[in-house]
Amino acid sequence: MATGRTHRLIPSARLAPGEVLELTIGAEAALAFRTPDGRCLVTAAHCPHMGNYMPNGLAPGEPLSRLLLHDQLLCPYHGWRFDGDGRCTGIPPGQRVPQKVQRGEPVLRHWQVREADGWITVDPGDTAAE
Ligand code: FES
Repeated sequence: MATGRTHRLIPSARLAPGEVLELTIGAEAALAFRTPDGRCLVTAAHCPHMGNYMPNGLAPGEPLSRLLLHDQLLCPYHGWRFDGDGRCTGIPPGQRVPQKVQRGEPVLRHWQVREADGWITVDPGDTAAE
């Protein structure tokens, strides 16, 4: 639920196209990423599939940017993909597809992002999905 408050996350300049950053919003681990076309998106860092912290699925030394596949997050554990609206946009063949995914509903928590005056901000209560 939106609170009307804004929470400054990071300066806009710290997130270049194709980059992913780890953040916390309140007590929740989050990921901010900027798509190649310049949009900034913020989602939970734990995958809705099995709850894994997505950055931990990268190989040692792999950059966080490997979580980004074009304009979508790619969970390195089992290959589920998510858009910035929290919808699962792809599950590799052979895996069960949950009904919420089949219906196109958001399954990954995400925040509405605002960029103004050189800052990326969210309303910490303004989340959706699961
Ligand atoms: S834990 Fe993310 S795809 Fe399985």
